[in-house]
Amino acid sequence: MIAKINEAVTYIQQKQPVKPAVGIVLGSGLGSFTGEMEVTQEIPYSAIPHFPVSTVEGHSGKLIFGKLGGKEVVAMAGRFHYYEGYSPEEVVFPIRVMKYLGITHLLISNAAGGMNASFKVGDLMIITDHISLLAVNPLLGKNIDELGPRFPDMSEPYNKELVKTAKKIAAAAGIEVKQGIYCGVTGPTFETRAEYKLLRTIGGDAVGMSTVQEVIAAIHVGLTVFAMSVITDIGIREEENKITHAEVLEAATAAEPKLTLIFKTLIAQLS
Ligand code: HPA
Repeated sequence: MIAKINEAVTYIQQKQPVKPAVGIVLGSGLGSFTGEMEVTQEIPYSAIPHFPVSTVEGHSGKLIFGKLGGKEVVAMAGRFHYYEGYSPEEVVFPIRVMKYLGITHLLISNAAGGMNASFKVGDLMIITDHISLLAVNPLLGKNIDELGPRFPDMSEPYNKELVKTAKKIAAAAGIEVKQGIYCGVTGPTFETRAEYKLLRTIGGDAVGMSTVQEVIAAIHVGLTVFAMSVITDIGIREEENKITHAEVLEAATAAEPKLTLIFKTLIAQLS
């Protein structure tokens, strides 16, 4: 694993020698975020040694390097989901590569379904904690001591200071943000009505099919993490309850400018 990470890092550094400070993972419908970056280099995943190969045709992911909020960043345009058939190790490979490229902070976005009754479509939710449900732990197997400890502490996966700062940034910009607990599931089915209710009962505010494995790997390697969901659909409602991928993408795209502003300002304020 370490050899694979090093090969990927060596390849990337030949193309792009500047060390990024912050890594960004962009969720569904949140890709145009990179329009805000002063882009210096784009590297397709397909060119990077050992990077997972995209299973979705015409869905070419890339690493985008550049400046945002006055800092050197690397953004993943396109992430790997467990439901696509990638192993948990493949899902988190890019996180480990970004760590070895030099990042200290990881900012994650995702699209999620709302369960909290006060949420509506288009809301932003700062993730304060998560519940991993059936999202297979990427650290299963022999521990790679060079990456991190056997039993990582998960009492504060989402950095409290960054949560505080992000709330201040949102308030100053007049952006309403919610906060809550993200339930990570495998998908690819959206939840049944009974499942949304179950997730609410156990303390979840939102549910999605990404993020948890990435955050576990990030904490394992000692990164400071901040994550935010765009609420793209409401799971618990009495009326007609069909949820489509198109609806999810549309809501995410509409909320993107607000999320971008918060991420960008947060990056500018990182020390
Ligand atoms: N459930 C799971 N994942 C999701 C949802 C949802 O309702 N919306 C966006 N991603």
